Amino acid sequence: MKMLTIIGARPQFIKAAVLSRYIRENPSCGVTETLVHTGQHYNQNMSDVFFTEMGIPEPKINLHVGSGNHGKTTGHMLDKIEEVILDRKPDALLVYGDTNSTLAGALAASKLHIPVAHVEAGLRSYMMAMPEEQNRRLTDHLSTWLFCPTQTAVGNLRKEGITDSKSVGRPDADKKKVEMTGDIMYEASLYYREKSNIQINGKGFILLTIHRAENTDDPARLAAIVGAVNDLADYQFVFPVHPRTRKVLEQQNLKFASHVRVIDPVGYLEMIAYEAACSAVVTDSGGVQKEAFFFQKPCITIRDSTEWVELVDSGWNTLVGTDTDTIVNAVKDIRIPNDYPQLYGDGHCAEKIISYFHGETNV
Ligand code: UD1
Ligand code: UDP
Repeated sequence: MKMLTIIGARPQFIKAAVLSRYIRENPSCGVTETLVHTGQHYNQNMSDVFFTEMGIPEPKINLHVGSGNHGKTTGHMLDKIEEVILDRKPDALLVYGDTNSTLAGALAASKLHIPVAHVEAGLRSYMMAMPEEQNRRLTDHLSTWLFCPTQTAVGNLRKEGITDSKSVGRPDADKKKVEMTGDIMYEASLYYREKSNIQINGKGFILLTIHRAENTDDPARLAAIVGAVNDLADYQFVFPVHPRTRKVLEQQNLKFASHVRVIDPVGYLEMIAYEAACSAVVTDSGGVQKEAFFFQKPCITIRDSTEWVELVDSGWNTLVGTDTDTIVNAVKDIRIPNDYPQLYGDGHCAEKIISYFHGETNV
């Protein structure tokens, strides 16, 4: 099977690192992969660093789409991905997660009747205003293979009428395959924690990340978050700042107090070293919420909803929104739960994804 994989944003490089390695190391698996980078993320520390340090092969094709409004960049990607599909004639196209690169890939392929595989299918925040919710819902409905990280995700799909067709032979978008594979980022964290020998100076700090559109594009929400972090002067924070957030902080002249160490975005190996060394995480990131749990760190999520509901149910994640006092009180009240359930599978997600392709396709 000739597979085209579309990646474009930071978390997708991390997810692709796992699956691409599995494919390369198992040439008998029956799948060959061509990586296409849309160029959605392009700074050295938002893109290149992941390829070099995680051993991801240089994508054969980079569409260099860059930043801009949703319609313009997604449309640009759609146009270029269509060209690549027509040229390369893949048997399947694989996308990760919920970014504009995900939707552009899924839409371009499904219009050309190329079956789509969606890794991280079935997640829902039930907030359609989020660009990610729009992207993931549309992608799930366009997909043929839906690889779900949790049973909750399988259940979410069922509510929308997306179920496993149980059909034999080659699936298509009307005869879907829905599989629970576990979480690909869990597998990444297991593999790369062995490879990261980065030492972080200091312990007991809180790791902070902020980049979600609903927080950065709303001055009141962003100011409330900054206010809460500044009020927590008895704590040390480390804040690798996403370029989107840096831009808005500067525009709004929002400044952090001296107990917050603001640093440039870091590579994945450094990030997981911070996650391993910190005492807790405050974030609006999807991936970082889970990684807090993988490193057994309590997480405060500065959003109104989360797709990773099992983290909240198990007590490892506290969803607080963006009210200043609520954030401050939640941080002061941080506790580590007694139980550490296995929420994200057995760490063999890549193998499961490839085995579901194998045998179901006869191409
Ligand atoms: C995107 C995803 C989001 C994901 C995040 C991961 C969409 C709609 N959103 O959000 O789901 O959680 O990636 O990080 O796809 N920028 C740079 N350099 C870069 C990349 C971005 O300067 O290398 C700046 C630009 O000003 C750009 C802004 O960040 O306009 C936003 O980038 P964009 O890719 O549109 O969205 P993210 O917030 O990164
Ligand atoms: N990450 C990183 N460096 C950073 C911030 C995040 O390597 O400076 C990693 C993080 O460990 C996780 C992924 O990027 O694996 C999460 O990406 P992000 O928060 O940008 O997006 P989301 O997961 O919310 O889509």
